[in-house]
Amino acid sequence: PLRGRLAGRHVLVTAGPTHEPIDPVRYIANRSSGLQGFAIARAAAEAGAKVTLVAGPVNLPTPFGVTRVDVESAAQMAAAVEAALPADVAVMVAAVADWRSADAAQQKLKKDGSGQVPPLALVQNPDILAGLCAHVQRPALVVGFAAETENVIGHAQAKLARKGADWIVANDVSGDVMGGTRNAVHIVTASGVESLAEAPKDDVAQALVERMIDALV
Ligand code: C5P
Repeated sequence: PLRGRLAGRHVLVTAGPTHEPIDPVRYIANRSSGLQGFAIARAAAEAGAKVTLVAGPVNLPTPFGVTRVDVESAAQMAAAVEAALPADVAVMVAAVADWRSADAAQQKLKKDGSGQVPPLALVQNPDILAGLCAHVQRPALVVGFAAETENVIGHAQAKLARKGADWIVANDVSGDVMGGTRNAVHIVTASGVESLAEAPKDDVAQALVERMIDALV
């Protein structure tokens, strides 16, 4: 039913975690599998869109017809998103690391036998979603995600305003959503909240892309 309905549109999707280097062999990461973002990229491509998928480090095949750009860090993801513009729709599903090491070491950090631990100072990463919302080439529809473990809808409503997105898709990750194959999401917009029934991530992707098509006309 979605076939061809995104023809001529460019949909930009971010997915997966980011890896923030500590030294050449160590990094900070999170439990994002990339499954939900990849499913959205696939559904958008099936609907006829030109799709750019900016993927953090994940072990997933590239959906048919999707242009994939692999990145590791949040800084690389931000640059890849910028380079992919203009886009009609942006769906930022990636679980971007909030913090990175303030000074990633050029050589592997070594134990020195004294029992002293190295300091790990963190600095905040750029917010890719907020940056895109304020961009001169802001896509017509910008969708963010909010992975929360409590007060899911409340946090999403605050995020909607703070970041300037059109929708925040909120999900409760207190269970096994991250890495799991099912998801239950709430679409939070300025006009209200629509809660979708728990379903396979592929079905959630279909439902979200359907609503994107409706929002674009
Ligand atoms: O603030 P929080 O990380 O909860 O926001 C989540 C949303 O913002 C997601 O859509 C995520 O992809 C995006 N985000 C981002 N860049 C960051 C942090 C989050 O694009 N540095």
